[in-house]
Amino acid sequence: MSEALANLLNETRQFPPPAALAANANVTAGAYEEAAADRLGFWATQAHRLTWAKEWDQVLDWSNPPFAKWFVGGQLNVAYNCLDRHVEAGLGDRVAIHWEGEPGDTRTITYAELHRLTCQAANALTDLGVAAGDRVAIYLPMVPEAAVAMLACARIGAVHSVVFGGFSADSLTNRIQDASAKVVITADGGFRRGKPSALKPTVDEAVANCPSVEHVLVVRRTGEEVAWSAKDHWWHETVETASTEHAAQPFDAEQPLFILYTSGTTARPKGILHTTGGYLTQAAYTAWAVFDLKPETDVYWCTADIGWVTGHSYIVYGPLANGATQVMYEGTPDTPHKGRFWEIVQRYGVTILYTAPTLIRTMMKWGEDIPAQHDLSSLRLLGSVGEPINPEAWMWYRQHVGRGELPIVDTWWQTETGAMMISPLPGVTETKPGSAMAPLPGISADVVDDQGQSVPNGGGGYLVLREPWPSMLRTIWGDDDRFIETYWSRFEGMYFAGDGAKRDDDGHIWLLGRVDDVMLVSGHNISTTEVESALVSHPSVAEAAVVGATDPTTGQAIVAFAIPRGTVDTAGEAGEQLIADLRNHVARTLGPIAKPRQIMLVPELPKTRSGKIMRRLLRDVAENRSLGDVTTLQDSSVMELISSGMGGGK
Ligand code: WT7
Repeated sequence: MSEALANLLNETRQFPPPAALAANANVTAGAYEEAAADRLGFWATQAHRLTWAKEWDQVLDWSNPPFAKWFVGGQLNVAYNCLDRHVEAGLGDRVAIHWEGEPGDTRTITYAELHRLTCQAANALTDLGVAAGDRVAIYLPMVPEAAVAMLACARIGAVHSVVFGGFSADSLTNRIQDASAKVVITADGGFRRGKPSALKPTVDEAVANCPSVEHVLVVRRTGEEVAWSAKDHWWHETVETASTEHAAQPFDAEQPLFILYTSGTTARPKGILHTTGGYLTQAAYTAWAVFDLKPETDVYWCTADIGWVTGHSYIVYGPLANGATQVMYEGTPDTPHKGRFWEIVQRYGVTILYTAPTLIRTMMKWGEDIPAQHDLSSLRLLGSVGEPINPEAWMWYRQHVGRGELPIVDTWWQTETGAMMISPLPGVTETKPGSAMAPLPGISADVVDDQGQSVPNGGGGYLVLREPWPSMLRTIWGDDDRFIETYWSRFEGMYFAGDGAKRDDDGHIWLLGRVDDVMLVSGHNISTTEVESALVSHPSVAEAAVVGATDPTTGQAIVAFAIPRGTVDTAGEAGEQLIADLRNHVARTLGPIAKPRQIMLVPELPKTRSGKIMRRLLRDVAENRSLGDVTTLQDSSVMELISSGMGGGK
């Protein structure tokens, strides 16, 4: 990346950890030194957080890169580690999940009960013919049965493939077919935006084209009428009548645990394969270290859906392996009102909140008076994941959710990495708004140039991982060649993450978005993230998306889409004036080279169901093309709103 870029981000604010948290933190600065001195020894120590039926012979076998084997020869059972051992330790009465449905119904599930339910589901799946190594597709709303289904698969060594409940019949079909799933676990539906949203009809449509599927297990959630076939079984008649006794058998450390398909907005989805011992080690360690998790006293809440990797690692496996108490919420943040999240924080006394920048920016748009109406004093730590967090969104989160004092952990990782990789440690790191800061202990991330050389402080380039890590993907399901080609071919001997990054003058890492989202303007590389952050730092802007559009003079030109904050006047002249102000504001903040050619004020932005902005569609608008495929959009009407409001001040 260019010299110009190195100066683009001039963030100088820095916040030390609160003294009380630092004094009592799970992890101190010594962890970095310990891991640097002996990386594999460090991970072996972390693996001892788990209960192994058989100790490993070798921590890492990297004799056939990029195919890693961690904790070779070790044996363990994931569900035993998440449930049985806590119950055996006398913690059966501890709440595992405070569940809240969107309509307001609640369930309190202790570790003992979660254990019983998982044993029943394990027995029921076994009765349906599921054996170790078989694949089970899970297509459920955010109900406790989703966690139970995953843990039951893990318990019997079956491989789960969770498909997000918002995906279409086609997406579900492709995923079931790719993995040849034998059983599908679903529900009649779930509640979203105040009404039942059916799932079973989608499964029926998919299963009609999936001969591998022998049985469909159906949780009754909404009570709506569903079509029924010979393959269908009600969960309450099958699982809830099964024996609650089930002995967890140990599996090899490299037993496949799950496949999770990456969103794939353009190409064919990739089935990311994760295995057992290394995955659980890193999920458990990072949940404990990065959230400073104290299972006896904390109430943790991750707002992600279980259909994403965040839900896998930081709703199910990481927190449960630690014996934590958590909140799980079924619905949307604005049903029945925009304070729903804060009401939940207050009701359960949530201490640790893990959410996404897209949600924080939405909350900014709704206004700070909404969190201010609730008692958020139980919170002690905030987390962010999914995208680069703009410095102003970070500051808003700290100010209006974190009382201006809570630490924020901005955690960089991917479906492929399985667990957190780059993040502050809350009791150690002096955080900078918008920076994920430094690789976690035991992780070797680097920023390299085109040639794969480390860039000096102040430089920018590509994010890579130089050494294997325990929770790394093992391959793409059924496609080793694509695994090598996608991740291990760009730079010799390094994992290519696909993200642009910058190392600041102190050596701290700033993520700049996917490399496909870097623009080339008059020979300068400019990251969409930096221009977006500059726009969001203007008091009138809640959220922004930036794309590069082909331009006859500059190669690419910067085109921005901005959502004004709630109270901002954008009619007629006022809108024109705001656009002019914003263009100047970006030029002042980042330099004239980054001044957008065009800014459009829009009411919404197109996002994937995981909350990422679909820049591809915005590029179509910016270049006056007809729109490409919109089927992975969260809300397809958004594009009509944007296209019809184009050009003007509204
Ligand atoms: C991509 C991975 C990790 C769970 C959810 C997303 C972006 C993720 C951050 C962050 C900047 C981030 C990257 C990454 N990303 N977290 N803290 N700062 N960017 O998983 O769907 O596999 O997406 O999300 O671009 O490559 P995913």
